Amino acid sequence: MTDAQPPVSEEPTRRDFLYLATGAFAAVGAANVVWPLIDQMNPDASVKALASIEVDLAAIETGQSITVSWRGKPVFIRRRSANEIAEARNVSFDALPDPQGDEARVTKDEWLIMVGICTHLGCVPLGQAGDFNGWFCPCHGSHYDTSGRIRKGPAPKNLEIPPYEFVGDTRIKIG
Ligand code: FES
Repeated sequence: MTDAQPPVSEEPTRRDFLYLATGAFAAVGAANVVWPLIDQMNPDASVKALASIEVDLAAIETGQSITVSWRGKPVFIRRRSANEIAEARNVSFDALPDPQGDEARVTKDEWLIMVGICTHLGCVPLGQAGDFNGWFCPCHGSHYDTSGRIRKGPAPKNLEIPPYEFVGDTRIKIG
């Protein structure tokens, strides 16, 4: 038996936080994996403990998403297309189980930033999926729209918006 350990970097870099949305979580079988299980796969406890992180958005193109880890949670960052924004704005409050205007969920229209944990029982929803072209949680079938609002299924609330601010044109601080 060997005690060989993989090398551990002394300081987490921003790269530690960045995962392509379609990569990292798919790799662990996102469809039916609840967040606590994924949480155990985070590499470093000090990363989890960070109260705030800064993320450079410059490389994200319209229609792309990334997922970053903040306080041990996935945070979805999506650069929305004009169509996605229009879809999010053209919805009657009557159609929303948890009524909230899209304007109240974003600081800049094209940037949607939210905690990627289903408000039902904590699975990580899949992006650009479901009946409303937003996020779909396959665990029990919750559909979120292009503003991350619950539209159909058992989840009671919209996907949570974390505290964040723009600290540059394309740079945000979460937390
Ligand atoms: S955990 Fe997402 S629908 Fe149940």
